[in-house]
Amino acid sequence: MNAVILAHYYQEPEIQDIADYIGDSLELSRKAAATDAETIVFCGVRFMADVAKILSPNKKVLLPDLDAGCSLEDSCPPEQFQNFIQQHPNHKVLTYINSSIQVKAISDIVVTSSSAEKILQQLPKDEPIIFAPDKYLGAYLNKKTGRDMVLWDGSCIVHERFSEEALVKLQATHQDAQIIAHPECPENLLQYADHVGSTSSLLNYTKDANTDKFIVLTEPGIIHQMQLASPTKTFLDVPGAGEGPCTSCNSCPYMRLNTLEKIYLCMANQTPAITIEEDLRLKAKGALDTMLEMTA
Ligand code: 13P
Ligand code: SF4
Repeated sequence: MNAVILAHYYQEPEIQDIADYIGDSLELSRKAAATDAETIVFCGVRFMADVAKILSPNKKVLLPDLDAGCSLEDSCPPEQFQNFIQQHPNHKVLTYINSSIQVKAISDIVVTSSSAEKILQQLPKDEPIIFAPDKYLGAYLNKKTGRDMVLWDGSCIVHERFSEEALVKLQATHQDAQIIAHPECPENLLQYADHVGSTSSLLNYTKDANTDKFIVLTEPGIIHQMQLASPTKTFLDVPGAGEGPCTSCNSCPYMRLNTLEKIYLCMANQTPAITIEEDLRLKAKGALDTMLEMTA
């Protein structure tokens, strides 16, 4: 098929094992833009496959399950966001890649968790900025860079729900462990972290750090690559703080919609494929290109 299979770190281990390339959102965007393959099979969520199609419109982009959405994307409806922008005139609009094409189309610059700080360093310190949709990533960036960005009130249902109580208990039981966290977690969790970063940054940290045990505050799919890279180290995931039967659930329900069977079927049947109306694609591409240029 001359296809390339791209997978995000939050996919099931068996999917990661058949992928040609595994990465964080920024790395997968770059891979999608640069590949020579005719078909991109995107094992991740919808907004990631949309980005692949925006950057490589002449390639076929297959997503094993079209329902693989994202709670952060859902937390920022485009019309409401348009009103929010109008209420804050003269603000630069910085948008996390976990957002819809429509929201990207009305943004100035797209960022990922691994590119946001580098991009902010290149903007004047006093420039007024709107950051959307993740209020926790926005608050983390405000603290880290000393800015006062106006934050949209969105969040990820996975990173917001890790149990602080369970984290503290784990820390007490494993005092030799370091805590690593994704910046989509709220401040009450990030305060415990020895290292905060994107999925790739967390993985690299576990390879390089002189520590044998890690408590991992992000979707546990990434532990597969951590364990492969450091077979003698120990990785502990943190349960969610839900109610009822889902109390310990910490997996992304959208990422987990993809299965090996659905990947096989989408390749065999060449569907579902991503299609985007050209006007909208070009509008969203501007903000994505700016990110790629500012992080080249
Ligand atoms: P990364 O950019 O760190 O891979 O994060 C993507 C994501 O969806 C985190 O929830
Ligand atoms: Fe979206 Fe959260 Fe899943 Fe990442 S973990 S894809 S932000 S719902």
